[in-house]
Amino acid sequence: MMEALFSTTPSLKAFSPSFSSSSNFNTKPARNIFSSICTTTLGRNRVRDRTSLRISASSQSVPSTTQTITSVSEIPLKMKAWVYEEYGDVNVLRFDEGVSVPEVKEDQVLVKVFAAGLNPVDYKRRQGKFKATDSPLPTVPGYDVAGVVVKVGSQVKNLKEGDEVYGDINEKALEFPKQFGSLAEYTAVEEKLLAIKPSNLDFAFAGGLPLAIETANEGLEKAGFSTGKSILVLGGAGGVGSLVIQLAKHVFGASRVAATSSTGKLELLKSLGADLAIDYTKENFEELPEKFDVVYDTVGQGERAVKAVKEGGTVVELTGPVSPPGFRFVVTSDGAALTKLNPFLESGKIKPLNDPKGPFPFSKVIDAFSYLETGRASGKVVIYPIP
Ligand SMILES: NC(=O)c1ccc[n+]([C@@H]2O[C@H](COP(=O)([O-])OP(=O)(O)OC[C@H]3O[C@@H](n4cnc5c(N)ncnc54)[C@H](OP(=O)(O)O)[C@@H]3O)[C@@H](O)[C@H]2O)c1
Repeated sequence: MMEALFSTTPSLKAFSPSFSSSSNFNTKPARNIFSSICTTTLGRNRVRDRTSLRISASSQSVPSTTQTITSVSEIPLKMKAWVYEEYGDVNVLRFDEGVSVPEVKEDQVLVKVFAAGLNPVDYKRRQGKFKATDSPLPTVPGYDVAGVVVKVGSQVKNLKEGDEVYGDINEKALEFPKQFGSLAEYTAVEEKLLAIKPSNLDFAFAGGLPLAIETANEGLEKAGFSTGKSILVLGGAGGVGSLVIQLAKHVFGASRVAATSSTGKLELLKSLGADLAIDYTKENFEELPEKFDVVYDTVGQGERAVKAVKEGGTVVELTGPVSPPGFRFVVTSDGAALTKLNPFLESGKIKPLNDPKGPFPFSKVIDAFSYLETGRASGKVVIYPIP
């Protein structure tokens, strides 16, 4: 089993002991047993017994897993993490089991990471596209986290040790994102960037949500999107697009949602709530007679997008240029936005979408990045479990 886990990178065999059964890293235990532990021990997102905290997770697409974290006094000085020391392609990523566990500032908590979602900003940053405003190398990448609070700073007001949380650890995505990100056993993050994890979601699903759902929500808010308006989502099957469709429909009250994808994903768009699924391999959306109050562009088709907007409407642009009435913005991480959306997640109105090729275990971070970088992922690419 160890050989299979580390077949791509021989040097990773160095950390195989941490994946032994003695560390409670099991991929095939009886799901029901661990589900019941999850319900009784973690039922209210607060773990009482930290001496031997067993966390379980299970879902249709996530293997059941148990992990153990011990008391705060046992937080190690060193941890396992993925690191790069220079900018470049996936090959600059290296596994390191001697990375210092980050210090916690007074407004921060230390999170034991269980799952980390990948976002395009992770690989664009690694490629050096934002180096002018990046934190110094070496970098532990990763914006999205889902895990358990194991330590709190002196000024932390609401979160407590044992809370199950999720969030995007970087308040401004492109302005000096943290040097020590979430592709690690521990990460330090400001309390205000986190929210309590929705009680119905496994870590693997919660871990894929923060940056994407906050981007979807902030873009719709900035566009003034509201009940009765229509929207066209470009890139409806992606991490952000799949959430824009759902939020527009189920949170903001869209009267009509259209979205684009390739042929094989049209049914997925409809299942997410799209009234009209447009196959971009067969149709040019800007040539359709129908126009929209808002076009939300996650693809980088700003100049075409403005042609699909109604008089008085707007284009939300995430990547690439756009002219008026469009605007481009960069997401701001905000735990309060997640807290606002939690009821929609807990009621099942909004459903996280994780790509079926995942979740990728911690040993397969390079494979996960390579897949995300194809630009073909459906929903989120998530790293889980993290030891
Ligand atoms: N400004 C910000 O704050 C912000 C925040 C988040 C993300 N972003 C940016 O937004 C972009 C999308 O992010 P993401 O996380 O959603 O990426 P993603 O999950 O990697 O997007 C992949 C999806 O894009 C779809 N796609 C690719 N080309 C398409 C096309 N021509 N038309 C329609 N769909 C197409 C693919 O569907 P098919 O396989 O069907 O083509 C795939 O499902 C990235 O560039 C990211 O950096 C910016």
